[in-house]
Amino acid sequence: MSRRLIIVSNRLPVVVEQEGEEWKLQPGSGGLVTALGPVLKEQGGLWIGWPGSDEEAPYEEIFRSARAEIGYEIEPVALSPEEVEGYYYGCSNETFWPLFHGLLGRTVFDRDNYDTYRAVNRKFAGRILETTSEDDFVWVQDYQLLLAGRAVRERRPSARLGFFLHIPFPSPDIFTRLPWREEILKGLLAYDLVGFQTRKDLRNFVQCVRALVPEASVGYRTPNSLVTFRDRTTIGGAFPIGIDFNRYRDLARSHQAAEGAWFLHEKFPEHKLVLGIDRLDYTKGIPQRLEAFEVFLEKHPELHTRISLIQIVVPSRMGVPEYQEMKRELDELVGRINGDFTVLGWVPIHYIFGTLNPVELVAHYRSCEIALITPLNDGMNLVAKEYCASCIDDRGVLVLSEFAGAANQLKKGAVLTNPYDTEGTAEAIYRAYTMEGEERKRRMRHLRGQVRRYDVFRWVSNFLKTAEEIGNSR
Ligand code: G6P
Repeated sequence: MSRRLIIVSNRLPVVVEQEGEEWKLQPGSGGLVTALGPVLKEQGGLWIGWPGSDEEAPYEEIFRSARAEIGYEIEPVALSPEEVEGYYYGCSNETFWPLFHGLLGRTVFDRDNYDTYRAVNRKFAGRILETTSEDDFVWVQDYQLLLAGRAVRERRPSARLGFFLHIPFPSPDIFTRLPWREEILKGLLAYDLVGFQTRKDLRNFVQCVRALVPEASVGYRTPNSLVTFRDRTTIGGAFPIGIDFNRYRDLARSHQAAEGAWFLHEKFPEHKLVLGIDRLDYTKGIPQRLEAFEVFLEKHPELHTRISLIQIVVPSRMGVPEYQEMKRELDELVGRINGDFTVLGWVPIHYIFGTLNPVELVAHYRSCEIALITPLNDGMNLVAKEYCASCIDDRGVLVLSEFAGAANQLKKGAVLTNPYDTEGTAEAIYRAYTMEGEERKRRMRHLRGQVRRYDVFRWVSNFLKTAEEIGNSR
């Protein structure tokens, strides 16, 4: 059998929904599907993952019959309600997610959840072993599956294994708090190639290895790091993920998106619109952003009725109590600010808790003069890149947190801000509001150039090229 590409991620690229007696497949959203779908189709590959529900469904059969439609194979890993609780909600989202984002105060360490996490990672590994051969390249995605590679390696020492972390890797200061820190690091060292979003994440990882795995030796083959541990070498590299630039640009040029944008402008005549779009998550800095907008309104009464913030919050992980609490906090905050500032005919914050379809999304990107993307910490932040790709007339201003991975590539064109600095962010909004047309254009052209050049296809090919080189030098 020739070498296939195997993608392993917590979520599958398709969502299964029941309509009456029938099971329907909906394409999943997100850059990963857009980027990897075509590659899998072309090379003939397989995607292994959880269907995203703990409901019983004839998954194997559903995916087998949809194979031709999807263009590659799908192998579901069904999880029981207990597994979803301990592995997904518990360990992935209450331990690794906050810890890796540097939010120790929100991190829960629970041994039972961790045991379930290990067991589920072994379950994924079992499925990888059953459905792949030694020649295949297995590319595991993200923090939910840190230990899957090791479980594969134990039973198939010559496996070709890559891993990409979509979220930040924390500094040793933070990472060393993890009770299972050595096991996790050694788990990562079972992969042949470990990719991070930024050089900073890579540096943090190497420093953690130096501090916690003294038997490992670290070397460099610029721009990558080489970690040798128990006669195996793992390459660490930075591969900043991108988006499908052309898809967003073309969608933004479409008639439907133009119509949607026109409709928004009609609704808010003589207004500058500021856009915030985030998955519901405390890492996104939404309350801090709303407070900064409030300070901006306090400082600039002359601009009341001339600017509005559209804040879209996409529901997420509602099974985790922190997320339910955050939703309540946001509802209250928006209510309070609007209560203080609204006058007849003008509401300062339009708050939408829901999901937009791709056309609506791009229509919002096109019609908002300012995007306010201010996460407290973020692996990359693709919304920032999508906004730039959709700004086809170069009019938009991107206000971006210095703590988004995207700031590395976008710092020249964006107005950078520290999301913890409320006054500073309010000032950044003012700067964006008053920025002259020429400067906006110059900055946005630069941003669009960056996003176009470093798109998601380049990300895939850089990662796979590096993996290939490792394979050849074995
Ligand atoms: C982040 C993570 C992904 C995750 C996504 C949505 O982008 O890096 O791994 O899939 O959030 O979160 P969810 O928990 O709904 O999969």
